[in-house]
Amino acid sequence: MIAVTGATGTVGGLVARLLADDGPVRLLARDPARAAELGIPGEAVAADFDDPASLVAALAGAHALFVVTANPLRPEHDPNLLTAARESGVRHVVKLSALAVADERADDLITRWQRRNEDLVRACGLPWTILRPRSFMSNSLAWASSIRTRGVVQAADGTSRNACVAPEDIAAVAALALTGGAGEGMTYPLTGPEALSAAEQTAVLAEVLGRPVRFVGTTPEQAYEAWSRRYPEPVAQALLHSARRQRDGAKELVDPTVEKLLGRPALTYRDWAHQHRHDFL
Ligand SMILES: NC(=O)c1ccc[n+]([C@@H]2O[C@H](COP(=O)([O-])OP(=O)(O)OC[C@H]3O[C@@H](n4cnc5c(N)ncnc54)[C@H](OP(=O)(O)O)[C@@H]3O)[C@@H](O)[C@H]2O)c1
Repeated sequence: MIAVTGATGTVGGLVARLLADDGPVRLLARDPARAAELGIPGEAVAADFDDPASLVAALAGAHALFVVTANPLRPEHDPNLLTAARESGVRHVVKLSALAVADERADDLITRWQRRNEDLVRACGLPWTILRPRSFMSNSLAWASSIRTRGVVQAADGTSRNACVAPEDIAAVAALALTGGAGEGMTYPLTGPEALSAAEQTAVLAEVLGRPVRFVGTTPEQAYEAWSRRYPEPVAQALLHSARRQRDGAKELVDPTVEKLLGRPALTYRDWAHQHRHDFL
């Protein structure tokens, strides 16, 4: 039995769908009914990272665990999960981290949180695999509403490039690791096959959607104004730091690991946009 956290989220949901083709999957969700509503295959059980007892119960009988945590302001979530995994007899932990961890110039709240999470995984006493994705291609779904209503994408800094990766590729690597096809004790950088700017992504979307879409660039500082309305202040600050690093070219490098592990080219942004065309229309 493989247990998947974050199953109602982007990567966890895709991992669960891939694993369900080959064997039993257990979805750990705060609201198991929601996992079922989303049509994600697998046995959904209640589990809250804030409630260690719920985690131990939810992991009973699981031999592998996919760890997705998403709140850098709750640093206890990862240790709670790892402690429960040890108590429950889990034999392999696959952790979703972030590629910024590898960049010594990255020193924001989110990166420091993931660095510490990685340290905890490496020290937890269980075999582990760490996945370090670059930005998700699916982040551009945040543009769907303004594309639909105004034919506009507004994003920070239209010219700097990011070797963004498809969540579908991250999930495929995670499924491989969870089923023993990728190495224990390995840390994998995961990028897409090319680096694109937000303006270039917008041009791809316009072509795929068959309608004009105008790009309006903002500075990272202007984007910060919007983030600080949506997120707690320390998270908005971390996003600003990250946007400035991108502007300085820190996220351009393309890595071949996805293709090496999957035995096929990594999905391009165009591939991803075709698959998600309906989400923008
Ligand atoms: N987006 C990017 O560009 C990017 C790039 C690199 C790395 N990452 C990393 O990717 C991870 C996020 O992955 P994602 O985007 O797939 O996640 P997501 O879509 O944001 O979903 C988060 C998941 O965590 C669950 N969750 C939140 N709080 C919980 C709690 N207290 N107990 C149990 N479950 C809880 C949510 O379940 P509910 O349904 O209960 O809310 C949801 O399933 C983060 O660690 C981030 O640092 C992201």
